[in-house]
Amino acid sequence: MSDKRLIEVAFPLKQASIDSVHEKNVRHGHISTLHIWPARRPLAAARAALIATLLPDPGDAEQRAAILKRLGGTLVKTTKAKKQANGQTEDVAVEETLGGILHWGRESGPDLETFREEIRKAYGGRAPKVLDPFAGGGAIPLEAMRLGCEVTAMDINPVAWFVLKCTLEYPQKLAGQTRRLPDFAIRDREFMAAYLKARGLTPATIRRHLNELGQAAEVEKDEKNGDLFGHDPIDPKLLDADLAWHVRAWGRWVLVEARKSLARYYPTYAEYCTLKPYAKVPLAVDAGEQLKPVPVDDAGEPQIGLLNLAYDPDYLENPKNPRCTFGLVITSRRPSIPPVRGAVFRAGSTGQAPARIGSWFPELGRHIRSDQDCCGYFMERCWF
Ligand SMILES: C[S@@+](CC[C@H](N)C(=O)[O-])C[C@H]1O[C@@H](n2cnc3c(N)ncnc32)[C@H](O)[C@@H]1O
Repeated sequence: MSDKRLIEVAFPLKQASIDSVHEKNVRHGHISTLHIWPARRPLAAARAALIATLLPDPGDAEQRAAILKRLGGTLVKTTKAKKQANGQTEDVAVEETLGGILHWGRESGPDLETFREEIRKAYGGRAPKVLDPFAGGGAIPLEAMRLGCEVTAMDINPVAWFVLKCTLEYPQKLAGQTRRLPDFAIRDREFMAAYLKARGLTPATIRRHLNELGQAAEVEKDEKNGDLFGHDPIDPKLLDADLAWHVRAWGRWVLVEARKSLARYYPTYAEYCTLKPYAKVPLAVDAGEQLKPVPVDDAGEPQIGLLNLAYDPDYLENPKNPRCTFGLVITSRRPSIPPVRGAVFRAGSTGQAPARIGSWFPELGRHIRSDQDCCGYFMERCWF
């Protein structure tokens, strides 16, 4: 055995690249979906680099080839149907990996256990400590943990620090445990409907529980010191939720708070139109006048009704009569970009490629230079 690390002599570069590219399209269950972090490394590349760094080079071509095969698998040529720019589907030649532990979904096979063992063996029976002082989104520490190492991850950025906590620490500590949902979530009818549905309850039972919870909240309002669920026949155990539901509950809390403080920076605009049949009605010759900001309440919720207060209720009753409705817009962080009627982005949808937005809304496309230029950020109303 040489005193070199495997990575100094050989590395399954093509396999790691192919499986890393594939991983970019994985949405469900990947840590990148927890929070956006720039310059995240693909898990496949991090796994390959760690194993090739932690293992010594065997000093023998045959043994080395065997390790590389177990790590990256074998490259095979195949064809795949791919949609072309002209909208037609064509078969194109692609390479993919067969076997190995780099491809998404193959990371937990028996070969991984073999690598864990090899690493322990290489370090006298105990996997080494791994330090990532620039850990960012946590790809390297996560993969080092997967290999059985004791890991320390650091980052100077507090957002990255928190992403790391949520990626590496909390799931380990809290997996399998349940805790009572916070009261604000229990009072949130929409949230609780989704929660109870996920618990497998029938629509009728869900309705009954939602009514019970609503009444209990009313009782709490009346008797300030009363126990919110003192009058509640719902089984308290039903309110014990796992980590994922607590994350959803607090995520909604963040959204509500963000809407409160940020709504004024991302205005919704009103459109003057008939409801049925839907038709825009020009307000004035100047197109700019049609984009009328909708006032928001303290919670940041648009109050379209305020713009229609001047109309007689009988007038509004008739859907053919024009009135203000939500005119959804793309807003921008850059003040020089005018708001464009047509759409409001979903939360976090800054990832929409500028070119795509430009093709939908040529008026806006002329102004967009980067993702950062178009951002409705927390407004979840979406038109397309
Ligand atoms: C390229 S990113 C790391 C990406 C990471 N490997 C991943 O897969 O997500 C570099 C990280 O280094 C962090 N950083 C920069 N200067 C630092 C410093 N002086 N101390 C600690 N972290 C620092 C940045 O905040 C950033 O998250």
